[in-house]
Amino acid sequence: MGSGKITKIIEISRIYSKFAPVLYTTMDLFTSEKSLNTRLSISREQGNSLGLVPTMGALHKGHLSLVEQALRENKTVVVSIFVNPTQFNNPQDLVQYPQQLATDIALLRTISEDLLVFTPTTQEMYPEGLNTKTYSFNGLDRRWEGSDRPGHFMGVGTIVEKLFTLVRPSRAYFGQKDFQQLAIIRALVRLKSLPITIVGCPIIREPHGLAMSSRNERLKPQEREEASVIYEALQKAVNNATAKKPLSDITQAAVKKIQAVEGAAVFYFEFVNTHTLEPIKTLTNPKNTRIITAVDFKGVRLLDNIGL
Ligand code: PAJ
Repeated sequence: MGSGKITKIIEISRIYSKFAPVLYTTMDLFTSEKSLNTRLSISREQGNSLGLVPTMGALHKGHLSLVEQALRENKTVVVSIFVNPTQFNNPQDLVQYPQQLATDIALLRTISEDLLVFTPTTQEMYPEGLNTKTYSFNGLDRRWEGSDRPGHFMGVGTIVEKLFTLVRPSRAYFGQKDFQQLAIIRALVRLKSLPITIVGCPIIREPHGLAMSSRNERLKPQEREEASVIYEALQKAVNNATAKKPLSDITQAAVKKIQAVEGAAVFYFEFVNTHTLEPIKTLTNPKNTRIITAVDFKGVRLLDNIGL
């Protein structure tokens, strides 16, 4: 689908959002666990494969690529849209998180009318209050987003485990964009011995290179273009690493390049082991190496990463 078409849908849905129910008429929308499971029991009886794409809405082409992959690989696909309060360590971030259900539904309908969309209430997902479970993720949650955003991954684990238990998918789809989250979800599935295949999907980018994110909405078009320096720095770091330059020199140069743009401050920019996410000092196994970064760009936290 062309980006022109997506922009048009967003415009139209914004205008008509007060008549939102009209937009839902031909798509199956479920707001309770009970109604979703009544529908899923039919699909389960028929032995259909079931794919789940968990999201927090404000959908963009990155999310849609996950949905498209799930549709290719499963007979039935559930897309969940739920802004999970327990994973926001910063209350202001939760308040500012974009919510645009009518637009999201319209976008999903352009892909398929057969999707099952699950939009539970907070009461439905947290009947006993906003409590999080504690998981032992083998240190995967210790660094990076885990240390910068205390409690974040316990909130992610809690909601994703709830969704897995409720939907019981055969496969669940997550973006490599949130590389640490993907590692944590894989650890969750192992920890709880869940019979679910986790599918990691490639990062979808804006034409100038910035990784797509719901948070990009908070940046002006010009700022988004400036933020493409993050992807440029990642690519340059890969080239320099394969040219065998010292890793610490490479990361220093990358941080300098990003911070040369006004309003950009790097939280971290590191070479890490793909599986453990522990920092790497020397490059011994490029295949198992990833560069991960988080940047404060004009007050918006932007994440990106790249493989070697
Ligand atoms: P959300 O940020 O809405 O992202 C939903 C899924 O879309 C995640 O798996 C994320 O990695 C993927 N995604 C986002 N941007 C992408 C891009 N540019 N390319 C490819 N995939 C992309 O991540 C969450 O929600 C939540 O933490 C959730 C897992 C739903 C739990 O609440």
